Amino acid sequence: MELKGALCYVLDFDDIYNYAHQTAAKIKESDFQPEVIVGIARGGWIHARIQCDLLGVKELFSVKIDHWGVTATKDGKAKLTCPLTGDVTGKKVLVVDDITDTGESLTMAVEHVKECGPAEVRSATLMHIAGSKFVPDFYGVEVTWAWEIFPWNFYEDLTALIKKIFEGEKVNELSTMEVKKHLREYNNVVLSDEQLSKIKAHMGYLEVIQYPLDKAWKLKE
Ligand code: ADE
Repeated sequence: MELKGALCYVLDFDDIYNYAHQTAAKIKESDFQPEVIVGIARGGWIHARIQCDLLGVKELFSVKIDHWGVTATKDGKAKLTCPLTGDVTGKKVLVVDDITDTGESLTMAVEHVKECGPAEVRSATLMHIAGSKFVPDFYGVEVTWAWEIFPWNFYEDLTALIKKIFEGEKVNELSTMEVKKHLREYNNVVLSDEQLSKIKAHMGYLEVIQYPLDKAWKLKE
């Protein structure tokens, strides 16, 4: 069935640990043993912390890359907004992100870290989208393009997707049943009533929809 929006997959922490273990296994089989991990904020932070645990790495630093673009778009103009937070001189460094899509984040982060005097730099992601310009040295799984809704981005992504549904439907009020149905038709996303109720509370908190909450989801004017 043709979707009205971008194909999305909702991932949970079992998926994340599954992919993280697959990534770590490939690193352990390789000739590369990192001494420092650099997590790309914000998407790479949790994966970076998990790799510290799986690989026994005690040094965890950060860089921040920001994007112009929104949830579930292929757009990806990247900008380094916070440089490396620690000293990597003479160290073997693993730069970690959640996913390679356009590859701009990792390209930029790896280039930046290489300018900071390390002995060696490699990269790792949980997921790699086939055809991405940048292929990480290590990744858990290769997938075709979809918007992957990571557990650390669940409320942000769902808020953006539901905003797009309001725009697409040209309405400013929807029932929970309608939100549920449209998420399936637009994005192939199926959510429980409990998840929907938490998203609704979140959108109220952010004042995307009217607060105090009504029975309906009413866009804030
Ligand atoms: N960030 C960049 N590309 C992405 C994708 N396809 N899914 C989730 N997050 C992303």
